[in-house]
Amino acid sequence: MTVRIAPSLLSADWARLAEAVAVCEAGGADWIHLDVMDGRFVPNLTFGAKFIETVRGLTDLPLDVHLMVVEPEKYFDDFAQAGATNLSIHAEAAPHLHRQVVRIKELGCRAGVAVNPGTSLETVRDVAAILDSLLIMSVDPGFGGQQFIPHSVDKVGRARAMLSAAQSRAALEVDGGINRETIPACWRAGADTFVAGNAIFAAPDPAAEIRALRDQCRLTV
Ligand code: DX5
Ligand code: ZN
Repeated sequence: MTVRIAPSLLSADWARLAEAVAVCEAGGADWIHLDVMDGRFVPNLTFGAKFIETVRGLTDLPLDVHLMVVEPEKYFDDFAQAGATNLSIHAEAAPHLHRQVVRIKELGCRAGVAVNPGTSLETVRDVAAILDSLLIMSVDPGFGGQQFIPHSVDKVGRARAMLSAAQSRAALEVDGGINRETIPACWRAGADTFVAGNAIFAAPDPAAEIRALRDQCRLTV
C-alpha cells in the first residue's frame, strides 16, 4: 500500500502561504489538506473558495478539501470551480449522503466522507463502495494541535475491513493529532493517507518532518 502524507495548511503561517506550499512540495507531500470551517458545524472559522483558488494557483498537487460545515452542498460548485481535487463532507452534516457523494463526482471531484470520533462507521457503510476516500477523525474537529484519540486506531482497522468488504478502493485517511508517535499504529491498522498540521508546521524543518512521517510507516511492518 502507498503512504500518502497530506499536510494541513491550518497550522501554516498564512502570511507566508506560498512558502508553506513550497515546503510541502519540497518534502514530497502527496496531497495538500485544506480545512474549511463554518463556525456552525465546528466552533471555529477558516476560509472558503477564494483561499482554495489561491492555493490552486501555487501548486499542482491534489487539493484535499475537508468541509467541516453544515449544508456542505451549498459550496460544491464554488469549491470545484476553485480547483479542489477531493471534497470530503461529514456524515453528520449530510442526511442525504448518497446524493451528495454522487453530486461531488458529477462535478468532476473525488468524493470523500468524514466521520467524527463519536460517529459510527455504520453511517457510511452503504456508500462505501462509491467513495474515493473515507476520513476518520482522530480528534474532535475544529482545531489543529489537539491530542490523538487512541481509540481511533481500532476504528481505522474496522474502516479498513468495511472498505475491503465493499471492494472499495477508497483512500483511508486519518486526521487529527498525527505525528511520529501516532502514525505507525494507524498505518498498521490500515490507513494509507495521513493528515498532519501541527506536527509538520511546528517542526523546525517541515519538509524533513513530512519525510520523517512517511519513513515511520515504511519502517513499520
Ligand atoms: C481538525 C482538522 C485537521 C487539523 C489537523 O479539525 O480537520 O485537519 O488541521 O491538525 P493537527 O495535525 O495539528 O491535529
Ligand atoms: Zn482536516
